Amino acid sequence: MRRGLYIALAFFFIGCAKDHTLESPAESALPAMYIPADNALTTERFEFGKALFFDERLSSDNEVSCASCHQPSLFFANNEATTPGANQVPGTRNVPSLINIGYSPYFTREGGVPSLEMQVSVPVQEHNEFNSNMLEIAEELNADPELKAMSMEAYGEEVTPYTITRGLANYQRHLNSFNSPYDQALRGVIDLNASAERGQALFFSERTQCGSCHHGINLTSNQIVNNGLYENYTDPGLQRLTNDPSDEGKFKVAGLRNVAFTAPYMHDGSLATLEEVINHYSSGGASHTNKDSRIQAFDLTEQEKQDLISFLEALTDVGVLEDPVFREK
Ligand code: HEC
Ligand code: HEC
Repeated sequence: MRRGLYIALAFFFIGCAKDHTLESPAESALPAMYIPADNALTTERFEFGKALFFDERLSSDNEVSCASCHQPSLFFANNEATTPGANQVPGTRNVPSLINIGYSPYFTREGGVPSLEMQVSVPVQEHNEFNSNMLEIAEELNADPELKAMSMEAYGEEVTPYTITRGLANYQRHLNSFNSPYDQALRGVIDLNASAERGQALFFSERTQCGSCHHGINLTSNQIVNNGLYENYTDPGLQRLTNDPSDEGKFKVAGLRNVAFTAPYMHDGSLATLEEVINHYSSGGASHTNKDSRIQAFDLTEQEKQDLISFLEALTDVGVLEDPVFREK
């Protein structure tokens, strides 16, 4: 059975275990994924959603698919700071990875979207993404007999905005990966190399505070905080939704799985390397009234910096790149 599907189904059957924050992915019971009652995970829905994810007809110029920005070979992120959408209209934010996205409690970088089903409408309508409209897309896709049949099999109805949003969300909930060297070390299957092991201790130390924001199965507390990137933000983050100045510069704590492969970093892709990220934090960041109190300057030796990077590299699950669940075909 497909690994992702297997894992997802396992969670589904483990069922509605209580919601609790895990200190590490090793703790035996992983949290239950949120799955709406009308969108239980099935193979037919996965296949339909997958077909949609790679379909360029979703964009107004028929040139951009979800996968154009969320590239499977780069853990469903990409290596550009920002990526243009249909008709080459420039993007404004860095493309986040979709690995384990089903475990996220809310979506977009300021966390303003409550479900994966609702998230689908964001790229479809954004003028700098698909610049399209759901009813027109549904009509166009429904004229394709193969997709129409897939939609029927998955949801018992033709291609509609309902089946498009459900199918894409269903597909994304299958993109799960828990087999990085870090996961394996936590399960006691392997030892991390010495540098990564020292990096792990540093990462979860009082000195660096990394682990106070980046913990749990995806190395994120899912808090929405200001991590001191700028004195003046071009993108106001959460303030965009609330209009409240005390939300300026607040973004969702980024998950760190496969982070060694998803440069550049932060909501705008402004930091090019992991070393730049570590330098940002060790400098204590820019002064901003909303900056989280855990962002404080600290000293690191060159060796310690390297150790932190080794730890971040140990969060890569290369198996994902070979697993058919995660591939286009
Ligand atoms: C033009 C590039 C582009 C395309 C096309 C695109 N996305 Fe995205 N995606 C982004 C960017 C940029 C963000 C961050 C948006 C934000 O924070 O406002 C994002 C965010 C997301 C998120 C939220 C991730 C998180 O961590 O909260 C999901 C889920 C997602 N996209 C799924 C999709 C799906 C499904 C499609 C196809 C229907 C799609 N995207 C098409 C660029 C793109
Ligand atoms: C106060 C909470 C907080 C602390 C402490 C913190 N981070 Fe972050 N981290 C964030 C937030 C918030 C973001 C996303 C910022 C954005 O989107 O602009 C982030 C983003 C990142 C990213 C970029 C991920 C990506 O894909 O863009 C990396 C890497 C990272 N942090 C590593 C670390 C390391 C290493 C430490 C310790 C030295 C650390 N963080 C400490 C909150 C924190």
